[in-house]
Amino acid sequence: MLKNLTPQPPDRIIEMIGLFKADTRDGKVDLGVGVYKDADGKTPVMRAVKAAEARLVESQDSKSYVGLLGNLDFVDLMRDLVLGDAVPAQQVTGAQAPGGTGAIHQLLELVKLATPEAKVWYSDPTWPNHPAIIKHLGLKGATYAYFDAATCRVDFDAMMADLGKASAGDVVILHGCCHNPTGANLSADQWATLTDFVLEKAVIPFIDFAYQGFGDGLDADAAGVRAMAVRVPEMLIAASCSKNFGLYRDRVGVALALSKDADALVLTKGALASLNRLNFSFPPDHGATVVQIILSDPELRADWVAEVEEMRLRMLSLREGLASALRQATNSDRFDFVAEHRGMFSRLGITPEQILKLRNEDAIYVVGDSRVNVAGFPEDRLDEVARAIAAG
Ligand code: LMR
Repeated sequence: MLKNLTPQPPDRIIEMIGLFKADTRDGKVDLGVGVYKDADGKTPVMRAVKAAEARLVESQDSKSYVGLLGNLDFVDLMRDLVLGDAVPAQQVTGAQAPGGTGAIHQLLELVKLATPEAKVWYSDPTWPNHPAIIKHLGLKGATYAYFDAATCRVDFDAMMADLGKASAGDVVILHGCCHNPTGANLSADQWATLTDFVLEKAVIPFIDFAYQGFGDGLDADAAGVRAMAVRVPEMLIAASCSKNFGLYRDRVGVALALSKDADALVLTKGALASLNRLNFSFPPDHGATVVQIILSDPELRADWVAEVEEMRLRMLSLREGLASALRQATNSDRFDFVAEHRGMFSRLGITPEQILKLRNEDAIYVVGDSRVNVAGFPEDRLDEVARAIAAG
């Protein structure tokens, strides 16, 4: 049986982790996978996470099952973190999921249960796991234009022109903030136009929300999603705690569904519980309970908010430093967009040959589509790295 298997295509982001690890050169630079790094190039356990984990170990008296939907206090706290008070709590249901990827998977399965014929639209480009999961689940995928490679900014007219081809009931994946891989984001006006479109066309917005707090701040990053949530009848949201809580390997995420129809919400809750049961029974508890402890304790929460802000400001200052180093290295404003982009990534627009040369000759690792993880730039070597990028 097993010999019938065919080789699976590698994920171009995850592939970079192995390549970078295997490189023995000193001073190598990892701009690949989306993992936050501090000034020492480390990905530390966040302060509030350490404290909450100590508290959890001390107080936990059982490892028995929790429930198919996971820790419901965690789900409620995440709902509030994402949506604030934009919509009444009783209009939202949700399930804990293993990471942002798990949440996306569970919600796409929900789409498949509810409307197997729906097309799922995603931006071109997007995080490669979006089309991969859509295909894996046997759903129909379609792309909409998003990024203008010449200006490195959102091409909103092209986006709306493509989305105009969607049919009622189709699903549209939007990045809540900090677009991955481009770093180019929608303005408040564009979110409002998109909301008009969602209402007019009766499509279902599906928000991938993996970087809240890494763009303009925890609330500012949610502003577009919240404004849309107020007006639309239904919305799906996959939120991740991998990045903003630094809980990557603990797999902490939440699948949220908003509906203004109470009966639909009861059905959704039952379907989410059933899908969890079918896929893994119970979502992993540890990381979600750590998040619950942090978000419900004023002191830990304040410290977590402060640390997310430190991370955000560090990435912002790296953006500014890099843009200015690239201005000098290229003697042009070609890369000025790096300072305007927000979140963990920017797409540089350099060629595959340049990307390979950076890896082979300079030990600088960039994803094949020219996405860079801004947090990976060594702050004391920005000029050197900028010169290598410009030399291509
Ligand atoms: C990324 O885009 O680098 C991260 O979201 C990690 C991943 O799972 O791809």
